[in-house]
Amino acid sequence: MDYDVLILGSGAAGLTLALRLPRSLRIAVVSKGPLKEGSSLYAQGGISAVLDDADSVEAHVADTLDAGAGLTDPETARLVASRAPACIDWLVNLQVPFSTLQNADGTTSLHLHKEGGHSHRRIVHAADATGEAVETTLEGLTRARDNITLFEHHIAVDLITARLLGQDQNRCHGAYLLDREREQVITVAARKTVLATGGASKVYLYTSNPDGATGDGIAMAWRAGCQVANMEFNQFHPTCLYHPDAKTFLISEAVRGEGGVLRLPDGSQFMDRFDPRGELAPRDIVARAIDHEMKRLGADCLYLDISHRDAAFIRSHFPTIHARCLEYGIDITREPIPVVPAAHYTCGGVVVDTHGHTAVAGLYAIGECSYTGLHGANRLASNSLLECLVYGSAAAVHIAKTMTPVPQPPSLPAWDESRVTDSDEQVVVSHNWDELRRFMWDYVGIVRTNKRLERARRRIELLQREIQEYYGNFRVTGDLLELRNLAMVAELIIRCAQARRESRGLHFSLDYPEQRTAGTSTPTILTPGQPDPVVPASP
Ligand code: FAD
Ligand code: SIN
Repeated sequence: MDYDVLILGSGAAGLTLALRLPRSLRIAVVSKGPLKEGSSLYAQGGISAVLDDADSVEAHVADTLDAGAGLTDPETARLVASRAPACIDWLVNLQVPFSTLQNADGTTSLHLHKEGGHSHRRIVHAADATGEAVETTLEGLTRARDNITLFEHHIAVDLITARLLGQDQNRCHGAYLLDREREQVITVAARKTVLATGGASKVYLYTSNPDGATGDGIAMAWRAGCQVANMEFNQFHPTCLYHPDAKTFLISEAVRGEGGVLRLPDGSQFMDRFDPRGELAPRDIVARAIDHEMKRLGADCLYLDISHRDAAFIRSHFPTIHARCLEYGIDITREPIPVVPAAHYTCGGVVVDTHGHTAVAGLYAIGECSYTGLHGANRLASNSLLECLVYGSAAAVHIAKTMTPVPQPPSLPAWDESRVTDSDEQVVVSHNWDELRRFMWDYVGIVRTNKRLERARRRIELLQREIQEYYGNFRVTGDLLELRNLAMVAELIIRCAQARRESRGLHFSLDYPEQRTAGTSTPTILTPGQPDPVVPASP
């Protein structure tokens, strides 16, 4: 099997790229499960873009830089913010059913929400189920394209690189995929390969993310020789529903944007004690404040209350949240919602340039698995789907432009299973999954210390050895592949967290509570085979 472009991932990033590439190219799109499944499908709040005359690209850039706590690259922020309106136009032309507003003169325009860290209303949304509206539209169009072949229920095992084939100059030639239904590994060759595999928040015990968010693309890229940056900055969303029967369900930041207030169990408000912006401070501040108050009071959860707003308004703006909470017996029009923070977004990832290209020739990374410099030490709300759209489009242009001189891939070796057998100890995999996610939550969570990080480092080294041995002896399964990748990503998070001897954005250390003077900090960039950098503590 060989293709011009192999896209690993079918979220907002992967499908944007697939649809933006010329129809003359033969494209393969791979997805671990059904095409639509992934974080994109569950996105609630929306996509940030400057669409109001009172707003400006400069203000969007300034808010992104402010949230990023000194580590957002200003050029990247400008590039993304300035391309946002065109990306929204593209989606509107594709008929994504965004929420609209009837103007006084009879015309309609897109309705804009407000979210934490934004100085203006600029969140384009489809009620509170924006991801579903976007993914459903992109899925329909992708399925209709006859130049696109879909590999659903296939999980990429590893990239096939020239280095793996014993050649000097590193280039990506495709990937091995595990067909989950036939339980067999196939070889797919491609002139260009794109990682669009999403984030890694499943590395934590409590997360807003769906099961597939296991950082596969980041781990594969690292093994292939790419640099990885800023993995210490994992974003915890302040408000996920707390209920014994609810697996993971997000309560959108837009609820706070529309007046929702956070309350302690005694009903009092507390956010003003932590930040003058109160409920609309950037996420790192709100999540840390909730974590602090929960620990101080020994509370299992705190409360988000929007019941003071008109019931019809709540039902029309937040129909999904209203319905889901009702399933658990909570009527958000009448009572506060029990909430806790949970791992939500991987700000770091595979280092790429402005086209989404990595340091390995022919290999791209776009969307949540990439590090573009946009999010710095903390992502601004609703900038993620935007980044998927901007970089999906940028990669499409670059791939189309640079396709001609790329040779056909060489003949690739088939996956070798001659020395492995079926495992009779699946319990090892499930046990290690649980152990890993628990110690990451306890030791590498919202508040960190040197001691906890050191403990986590020792545990991960042990687990890595065990997983490696298992991987070498047994036939691969989806669970084993995900565990191997989660462990790799956990190691990268811990190493980055140990390297950063300061507190900044989403990385908070009790041993280094100070932020280094603004402007003196740099991203944490790890390079395979090189010693880790150190971001020194304040003098
Ligand atoms: P995903 O949408 O996660 O897609 C990943 C794809 O990769 C999937 O198709 C998966 O099957 C595939 N994949 C992964 N590994 C492999 C493998 N090994 N082999 C083959 N395929 C693989 N951001 C916003 O900007 N606005 C919001 O309102 C918003 N709300 C959110 C709400 C929730 C509940 C969550 C979880 C996230 C939210 N985010 C939001 C973040 C945003 O949704 C994600 O960052 C973004 O959708 C990521 O898109 P992606 O295309 O990079 O990855
Ligand atoms: C939300 O709706 O709160 C999620 C928005 C985001 O993750 O950007």
